[in-house]
Amino acid sequence: MDYPDIVIAVDGCSSTGKSSFARALASALGFLYLDSGALYRTVTLFAREQGLISRLGKVDPALERLLPSLHIHFNADGKACIGPRCVDPAIRTMEISSMVSPVSALPYVRRFVDALLHSLGSTGRIVMDGRDIGTTVFPDAQLKIFMTASEEVRARRRYNELVAKGEHPSLEEVVANLRERDYIDSHREASPLRQASDAFVLDNSEMTISEEVAWTLGLIRGRFDLKA
Ligand code: DC
Repeated sequence: MDYPDIVIAVDGCSSTGKSSFARALASALGFLYLDSGALYRTVTLFAREQGLISRLGKVDPALERLLPSLHIHFNADGKACIGPRCVDPAIRTMEISSMVSPVSALPYVRRFVDALLHSLGSTGRIVMDGRDIGTTVFPDAQLKIFMTASEEVRARRRYNELVAKGEHPSLEEVVANLRERDYIDSHREASPLRQASDAFVLDNSEMTISEEVAWTLGLIRGRFDLKA
């Protein structure tokens, strides 16, 4: 099937399964998948390694001056890299997860990441996931999906992910981190997480990834009048 050169924006709270879904959808469409959260996480790792985040999570304003020296790109496997160094999975630890929301709330960090996202997505044929893709980064995206899932399902998914990576958080810690990030992400001044008025809601609490992809392909076929 020949799909049009569109941008698909996938937004939603932490651990709603956006990235697994967006990756599977991109692969079904033959599009590129772009994980915008990985960029915020990479900026956070960089700031941490430069000693610019205090124990209490306060970010040193010197970060703004250093950002132009940070060269992030995605390798052939879609993993974020700083220069030659692949920083995935280092960007996915609980430590980085607990620092990323305050860093991503900084307007100069958002400008830095938005510029990168724009240059990466300008050709279309891309599925990009994040918090503000359909509202701020690509407000003209031809298809917007807003993902939700119950808190219980989200916490269990995140917990299993961390355990699979060898971390040992308690379920309570994971729930606390999800709630805190949801709060910061949706209450910050710069591009808060919210559902775009023209987004389709996908609640995947009780859906498999193949069902989510099938649902979306149906949506695309209907919207762009494509034959199955
Ligand atoms: O999707 P994720 O959990 O990897 O994202 C990490 C953090 O980055 C998340 O807590 C909020 C921030 N983020 C954002 O502010 N805007 C985006 N478009 C993507 C992520």
